Amino acid sequence: MVILGIETSCDETSVGLVEKGKNSQNARLLSNFVATSLPLHSKTGGIVPEIAAREQLKYIVPVIKQALTDSNLYPPSSKLYHQSSTIYRPQIDAIAVTVGPGLLGSLLVGVETAKTLSYVWEKPIIPTNHLLGHTYANFVRENSKLKTIQFPALALIVSGGHTDLILMNGHGKIKWLGGTRDDAAGEAFDKIGRLLNLPYPGGPSIEKAALNGNPKAFNFPRPMIYSRDFDFSFSGLKAAVLREIKTIKLLDNKTRSDLAASAQQAIIEVLVAKTLKAAQKYNIKSILLGGGVAANQSLRDRFKFEIRSAKSADKIPLFVPEKWLCTDNGAMIAVAASFNYKPLHWSKITANPELYFK
Ligand code: KG4
Ligand code: ZN
Repeated sequence: MVILGIETSCDETSVGLVEKGKNSQNARLLSNFVATSLPLHSKTGGIVPEIAAREQLKYIVPVIKQALTDSNLYPPSSKLYHQSSTIYRPQIDAIAVTVGPGLLGSLLVGVETAKTLSYVWEKPIIPTNHLLGHTYANFVRENSKLKTIQFPALALIVSGGHTDLILMNGHGKIKWLGGTRDDAAGEAFDKIGRLLNLPYPGGPSIEKAALNGNPKAFNFPRPMIYSRDFDFSFSGLKAAVLREIKTIKLLDNKTRSDLAASAQQAIIEVLVAKTLKAAQKYNIKSILLGGGVAANQSLRDRFKFEIRSAKSADKIPLFVPEKWLCTDNGAMIAVAASFNYKPLHWSKITANPELYFK
């Protein structure tokens, strides 16, 4: 089955195509194309929803065409004609689209485009949760010799808008264990990046600055690291960084790097500790990371280190998508839909900015 996935929940416009066999535990990537309006948002230091949606309106059709072209499913040899008109239908089986959570204007661009294509191409459409997409980025795996993801799996989703731990007892069998009570991990990176005068988005900028910094230079709090639940909180950390900055007369590059490395270390330690605690409690067989923050190399390394150092019974296999698959993309939406194939008639599909697991 070939699925075309459309993702427009935030500032990216992305379309990806994947193929999955009926009982296969992996999906094969055919193509993925991303158009971003990031340079416009870098100027404002954050995403302006109105600007993001307006850019997405311009990009969506060219991006669909490009993704189809790259997958070799676009046209012209296999042209199919609809009655007397010249409607081309690509050789796909279904369309998947992010219906939420996300920015309403942005979601609407993808959702209305997907509905139109579903009607015109006469293809089923699968409404898909963006956060599930981040988790399923782990199922894009070409090499059959790679370890298979086993259930129960635990997914840590760390993006600009979310920090969630979810228990997966199988495809479509999901239980939300906990999430952030205030800022998401990516949001903390972005806000701390702004405090340090680093370019937006803060995550990659902090990661880069931290390479020259000492993670022990500042002893920032590790919020909720020992709490009994699986919730997170990062707004206090941001406030602690701000307090520290106010005491510094001159924010030179060395101090900026030390602050970046210390703040990054605090975020990483909390994420790793709580994920591994949940993994033990629920006898997890696979840990999956997903979302933009999962592209952070220090986070990936720390997870690997902690798992390697664990007692053999606690050495749970870790799955991490390729870095480009961690940030928003259409392929992950197509993969999530291929494992959770629940098509709806296009007229029943609506964008839901508040969509969640709970
Ligand atoms: O998943 P994503 O692309 O979009 C949302 O669904 O929000 O995640 C974007 C977030 C931003 O907050 C960005 O700063 C963060 O992911 N991010 C990173 C890195 N790359 C992106 N955070 C830490 N380290 C990175 N390398
Ligand atoms: Zn995302």
